[in-house]
Amino acid sequence: MEVETVTFKENYQTFPKEEGSLIPLLQRAQATDGYISPESVEIISDYLNITESKVFGVASFYSQFRFTAPGRHSISVCLGTACHVSGGATLLETLERELDVSTGHCTSDKRFDLDRVACLGCCALAPVVKVDKDVHSKVNVIKLKDICSNYE
Ligand code: FES
Repeated sequence: MEVETVTFKENYQTFPKEEGSLIPLLQRAQATDGYISPESVEIISDYLNITESKVFGVASFYSQFRFTAPGRHSISVCLGTACHVSGGATLLETLERELDVSTGHCTSDKRFDLDRVACLGCCALAPVVKVDKDVHSKVNVIKLKDICSNYE
């Protein structure tokens, strides 16, 4: 995931101080910091004068927002129907085990974050694993190790 160089803390005040700014502020926080941090939730809450639980509640409703810091590389394992029947779940379990990370989180060395997606739109290439912007097709457990070794 690419993160902007200016932090959310440095640029949130360009938004109108009204509740309609909540989603755009969350989007800005994620674009600048890579995720919605507890500090961003607090800043938005204070800025819009709404509770932190409301900010968090709205953010957690949308799957576009993440609440853990991203790693240097983001792995998305497709578990849409075509990928699921082709072994997508096994790929995800293998990555969890080999990288010692659970889905939705980041490895302790911050090298990878791991997530699942519903469909990457290239079902004929199933099972598919995306690392950053690279889509890897017809992946198997053996190919996974090679793929991961290309990302430091
Ligand atoms: S189901 Fe995986 S790309 Fe469509």
